[in-house]
Amino acid sequence: MISLKNKTAIITGGSRGLGKAMALLMAQEGVNIGITGRNEEKLKAVADELKGLGVKVAFAAFDVSSETEVKKGIDALVTELGGVDILINNAGIGKIGTLEEMSSEDWQQVIQTNLFGVYFTAMAVYPYLKEKGEGDIINVASTAGLKGGAHMSAYAASKAAVISLSQSMMAEWRKQNIRVITLTPSTIASDMSIQAGLTDGNPDKVLQPEDFAEWVRDILKMNRRALIANGSIFSTNP
Ligand SMILES: NC(=O)c1ccc[n+]([C@@H]2O[C@H](COP(=O)([O-])OP(=O)(O)OC[C@H]3O[C@@H](n4cnc5c(N)ncnc54)[C@H](OP(=O)(O)O)[C@@H]3O)[C@@H](O)[C@H]2O)c1
Repeated sequence: MISLKNKTAIITGGSRGLGKAMALLMAQEGVNIGITGRNEEKLKAVADELKGLGVKVAFAAFDVSSETEVKKGIDALVTELGGVDILINNAGIGKIGTLEEMSSEDWQQVIQTNLFGVYFTAMAVYPYLKEKGEGDIINVASTAGLKGGAHMSAYAASKAAVISLSQSMMAEWRKQNIRVITLTPSTIASDMSIQAGLTDGNPDKVLQPEDFAEWVRDILKMNRRALIANGSIFSTNP
């Protein structure tokens, strides 16, 4: 396994849930961290927590669904942190409702955030990794993207598209020594899943953000000749 110490990771949606857990765990490994989200106050609070772990920390508030905001925010983070080695495309939203109930505006917002957010952010980070000749991109999709289901049409469609986009990135960018990793977690206790009524979040039974973070850390620590291209994680017996 390789050390992640002194590497730099940008984690979108790093203000809570899975993104915050990954930021904290990676900082414990000595990784410098850039976090993003829309709410600046929440980002600042997490950034203060991360600084306590002795790594370089920066944050940028922007909406991943806007190409211009993403480019500006990523460039600012890379400048402040002095580079980037790892991108974790984690920011996302879920809107629950039947096809009849959901407005087309909601549908578009989910696709624009979950799919275009991943595309815009990866495209903003890619030139830095290409220039360096090395890097890792983790795209957080969902088991919902493996099979559509009732009440989640837009979310499932967005995540299916993320899986496909991510696999295309992997096929193109592995030649530049960039590992693109597509992850499809099942339900994990977070604001998103609890507010949607998908789980009660019981830590005795239900996956917690820290479980996901440990998995991501271990995937990133694999020897660079090894690429975990796709992976799913489930609660054992929820
Ligand atoms: N929890 C689960 O059960 C589960 C399962 C499978 C996959 N996932 C995926 O895992 C990822 C993280 O989910 P989570 O459960 O940790 O969700 P969460 O607790 O709702 O956190 C979402 C994060 O994304 C940020 N975000 C949302 N929309 C954004 C936008 N337009 N621009 C920038 N940042 C934005 C949020 O910050 P702001 O609100 O401040 O912008 C927040 O930091 C998502 O992609 C989700 O689809 C989650």
